[in-house]
This record gives sequence, C-alpha cells and structure tokens, in this order.
Amino acid sequence: MSGLREDEAAPVRSGPAGLIPAQPGRGEGESMSTADTGDTGRTGPGGGVPGGDGSAADGSAAPVVAGAGPVARPGERATVRLRDADPQEPPRYAPEWLQLREGADAAARAPELLDPLRIRLANLPGRAGGLVVHDLGCGTGSMGRWLAPRLDGAQHWILHDRDPYLLHFAAVASPRVAADGSCVTVETRRGDIARLTPDALAGASLVTASALLDVLTREEVEALADACAGAGCPALLTLSVAGRVELTPQDPLDAEITEAFNAHQRRAGLLGPDAVTVAREAFAERGATVQVHASPWRLAPAQAALTEQWLRGWVGAAVEQRPELRDRAERYLRDRLAACAAGTLRVTVHHTDLLALPRPTNGAA
Ligand SMILES: C[S@@+](CC[C@H](N)C(=O)[O-])C[C@H]1O[C@@H](n2cnc3c(N)ncnc32)[C@H](O)[C@@H]1O
Repeated sequence: MSGLREDEAAPVRSGPAGLIPAQPGRGEGESMSTADTGDTGRTGPGGGVPGGDGSAADGSAAPVVAGAGPVARPGERATVRLRDADPQEPPRYAPEWLQLREGADAAARAPELLDPLRIRLANLPGRAGGLVVHDLGCGTGSMGRWLAPRLDGAQHWILHDRDPYLLHFAAVASPRVAADGSCVTVETRRGDIARLTPDALAGASLVTASALLDVLTREEVEALADACAGAGCPALLTLSVAGRVELTPQDPLDAEITEAFNAHQRRAGLLGPDAVTVAREAFAERGATVQVHASPWRLAPAQAALTEQWLRGWVGAAVEQRPELRDRAERYLRDRLAACAAGTLRVTVHHTDLLALPRPTNGAA
C-alpha cells in the first residue's frame, strides 16, 4: 500500500531574519511543485506571516474572505488564483486569511485536551528519540506554532499539505523550541490527505490537524482514523466547525444564513458541521478513547478585521448556496459590517477540538 505522496517535499528558503516574504520569490511557487525528496527545513522561530493587506496572493485587489477562505472575484469560490488555474483544481487558501485567523485560533484551542495528550506522549515507547508529529493540512503552520512550544522534548514536525505555496510559509515560520527548550525541526511533504495510509504515518508519535476535518469527506475521515489506528498514534484534531454561530445583537436573518452556510459546507459530500460526530465515531470504532472539547472563536471589537472577513465569507457562502437570499443578505451584510466597524458586534463561532487516544500498546499508559 502506498503512503501519502511524499514525492514533492518543498525546499525551504528562509527569508531575512525568519520573515516570510509576502509571496514566494520569482519562480519559487513553481519550483516547490517539482519533485525533490527529503528536504528538511529548519527555520527561525515565529517569523512573520504574509502581508495581510487584504490583497490576493496574485497581487490583484481581490479581498481575502473568511469562513471558507478567500474569494477572488464575485461568484468565484474560495480560492486564490496564483496563476490561471485548472477549474478542476481544489480551492486554495490564502495565507493572509490563515494569518488573520491565527490569533483567534490560538485563543480558541482547548487546552483541556493537552494534559491527557502530554501524559500519553510521556509514556510512549521510544519517546527518548524525540516526538515525530505529522500536521495534516498544515496551511501556513499555525498548529505547530501553537503546539510545539507546549510539548516537552525534541520534536520533528512533518508538515503535510497539497498546496506548495502554503508549505513554503509553514516551513519558513516553523517553531524551533519545545516547552523545555529542546530542539524542534520541520520538514514539508506535499500530498493529498485523501490518500493517507498507515504507511505514511509509520513511526508517528502524534497526528495533528487544525481546521481540516470539516473540509474532508466521510471516507477521508475514515481513512485518517484507519491510518492513525494502524500507526497506533494519538490524533489531536482541532477547530472543526460546529455549525453554530451566535451574533449579538441578533438579526431575524441569522438563522437562515446559518442554515444556508451549513448546507454549503456539506456540499459535494464534505462533512462540514458533521465532521466531529463522524470522526468521533470513526476513531471510537477503531478502539480509540475520544475526548471532545469546545473551542469557539469569541470575536469582539479587537478582532474586527477577522470578524469582517469572516462575515463576508460566511454570508457569501450562504448566498452561493441559496441565491434567493441575495437581496436580504446584502442588507444583512451591510448592517453587520457597519456594526463591526462601530464596535457593537460580538460573534461567537463555535468549533470543536477532538483528541483520540488509541488503545495503549507496549506498555504505553
Ligand atoms: C482551513 S485550512 C487550515 C490550515 C491550517 N491547518 C490552519 O489551521 O491554519 C485547510 C488546509 O488543508 C489543506 N487541505 C485541504 N484538503 C486537503 C487534502 N485533501 N490534502 C492535503 N491538504 C489539504 C488546504 O490546502 C489548507 O492548507
């Protein structure tokens, strides 16, 4: 059985003093798509993440829109077109959007799941050689920047994504130091998680993912659970959308927009708000102990930029799903953006974190 494709590991080029360039340098986006195995990146701590000026990565004035990522032009799906893309290509996430949400994600993640995870990792056989962590759908690497400094011991992070452009950012801004000062190293692997197999996770201490489960299908989540069970490793799968949103003050259209957005998330067999339920069952059926914990974004005036982009994406996806909402949704969005700008809007976007601990083997606790 073949593993996750590892034939396109991205070469890492550090920017000056760990600062991530707003875009890959000339030709870099392309060169990272070429086969190049086993290149491992070690990069400066923290590093900046791209521009965040709201422009698209291709330099056009297209806004970055949240909820489902960026939308380049009205009517187009969440995608940044780095070049004339094949319409069959999956949507690509804008690094600016991932940067914008990183602070809210960090504040939302459930620390309650860390202690059970730390206990399991501390008792792993072979732990002395350091942890090997696979971050699936790593985007620009925010999960590693959050988690690596919260775990003790040397760590080697293997960052997986199908987008070489995002892998570039993830490598350049990867974490360097563990909680106890041990060294953290990273490598990037380009590939499709839909093709993940236990072989790809051989030797893994931990699998992580963040904001990924809800864009997978049931089959993909089951394949992920199979792969983790086969490798006998825990999985920390964070920030899956729960399908619930609270806005204050309320508006009569809130429920309809929420419903349409959730339907949009479930399009074409994607799990959307059902992701955690499906993952919970899939891991439990394979013998894992599963814990879930709420991890909501709590968006206040200090997060106005994120709230604005999230609103645009949320309402935009709802209208794409139900075009008959357009006129009312335009009024709704205008009012919501005005309240956001005035500092009178509060939004809670519910997410769920999931920790799956496989049945202990070889004396692991
Ligand atoms: C919403 S973003 C989350 C990124 C990152 N984990 C974070 O929290 O900022 C989802 C990421 O998963 C990647 N992705 C989605 N489906 C994938 C697949 N089937 N194979 C590989 N990567 C995938 C996307 O390219 C994107 O980087």
